[in-house]
Order: sequence, then structure tokens, then C-alpha cells
Amino acid sequence: MNVLDFRERKAAGRKIVLATCYDYWSARLLDVSEVDCLLVGDSAAMVMHGLPSTLHATAELIALHTAAVSRGAPNKFLIADLPFPSFRLDRNAAMAVVDQLMKSGAQAVKLEGLAGHEEVIRHIVGSGVPVMGHLGLTPQAVHRLGGYRVQGRGTEGAQALLQDARRLEEVGCFSLVLEAVPSEAAARITAELEIPTIGIGAGNTVDGQVLVLQDLLGLSSGHTPRFVREFLNGRELIGQALDAFARAVRAGEFPGPGESYS
Ligand code: KIV
Repeated sequence: MNVLDFRERKAAGRKIVLATCYDYWSARLLDVSEVDCLLVGDSAAMVMHGLPSTLHATAELIALHTAAVSRGAPNKFLIADLPFPSFRLDRNAAMAVVDQLMKSGAQAVKLEGLAGHEEVIRHIVGSGVPVMGHLGLTPQAVHRLGGYRVQGRGTEGAQALLQDARRLEEVGCFSLVLEAVPSEAAARITAELEIPTIGIGAGNTVDGQVLVLQDLLGLSSGHTPRFVREFLNGRELIGQALDAFARAVRAGEFPGPGESYS
């Protein structure tokens, strides 16, 4: 899949499937899966490093993860998040980070919001780099939003979201993530835009879905958002494997003769 396939998929009514990916070994698994594209999200700061929010992601952190994923999944379209505040400073600062991420193996970048950085988006796209937008619950704005809350509720909220979505299409985004927005608002945006919408907590009428890999594999701990489906009971299965290893070692049963050199 490449950037041109996004609109084609929407036109053909074929859903686009994305998962986050932050490291080489999961990239190897995803590379041979039916998932279409990978996102090195700034959620890496929380999921991989235990940091309190995505605001703690840096360009270096995203670049390091992007390079590992690109080595493990050479066959997948790879999008990397622009960390806060790289795209809010000026276009030179933004381009320096875009450059770093592209050199690390990204084929597109994603950034959150719109107001105040429309020109930066235009400039990145004009420089030849595909940009994915992100509206609704934009975690980098968690403090302004007053928490991780559903966005775009009510007629006014939905209308404001639609206006921003239209504008992101106008300034050249090739697709748009809609996070934690009511299904009806997401459906309206999806119907009005030519670029595909990728939902996470945005219902089923969007053009594609994205989930955090650890969430969909049932590996995350703590609060699970309503929009997550665990397609595997990863915590339990991995826990069982680790306990089986520990028990086998303690019982003197591992390694066996076939696992030892004579
Ligand atoms: O950082 C991230 O993982 C994301 C997705 C959840 C869309 O932005």
C-alpha cells in the first residue's frame, strides 16, 4: 500500500487497517500480517516508556522507534507521529523533525489539530511529505481538553469538527484520524471528505480503523477505553508462558537433553 491507495480504498469502499508499532520484533509480525499500514505513534512514550502522556515524546524517541519498525516491516506503509511541539514552533523546526523521521524510514507523518499550524501542514505537504491529520481527542492537548474525553458532541461540536476536517483536506492531508468522536459526527465527516477517515473510537462508518497494538493484543494494563477490542488475551497467555518457563527451570526440567550440548 502507498499513499495513493488511501483515496482509492475509500472510493472502492475497502476499509484501511492500521496498527501502531514501535519496535523491530512486533514489526516483523505485522509485516506478514493483513494489517495495511503501521503508525509509530507518540503513544510510544506511554506504552513503551511508561511516561505519563504523549507530551513526553521527543523527536529522538519517535525517530529511534521509526527506524526499528522500518527495519522490521519493509513491506508496510509507515507513518510516524510528529511530537509536540515540533510543528508548533515554525516551519524550519517542523521540517527538521520531518527530515529526521523520513530519514529514519517513515513514508508519511501524522500531526494533531489544525488551528495555528495550517501553513506548516501546507509546507510539509508542499515539500513532498504526505501528512495524516488527527482530530477529535488529540492527546497532546489533554490538558486543554480537561482529560481524555469524547470530542465533537452536540450540533456545534460536530460542526466545528467537520469544518476542521474539511480544512485539513484542503491543506493537503491524505487521510485523517478521528479519535473518540461520536459515530454520527464521524459518519458525516467521512461522507463529506474525499480523503479517508481512520477511526479510533469513531464508530464503524469511517473508512478505516487504527488501534494501539498492545491494546488489540490484550497486553495493556490499567484502564481500557470503551473503543478497544482485545483480539487476544495476551496478558494471560504471556503470563502462562512465563510461569511455565519459571516452573520448568525450578523443576530442573529445562533445559532437557535436546536443548543442551553434549
Ligand atoms: O499515538 C498514537 O498511537 C495515535 C493513535 C492512537 C491514532 O495517535
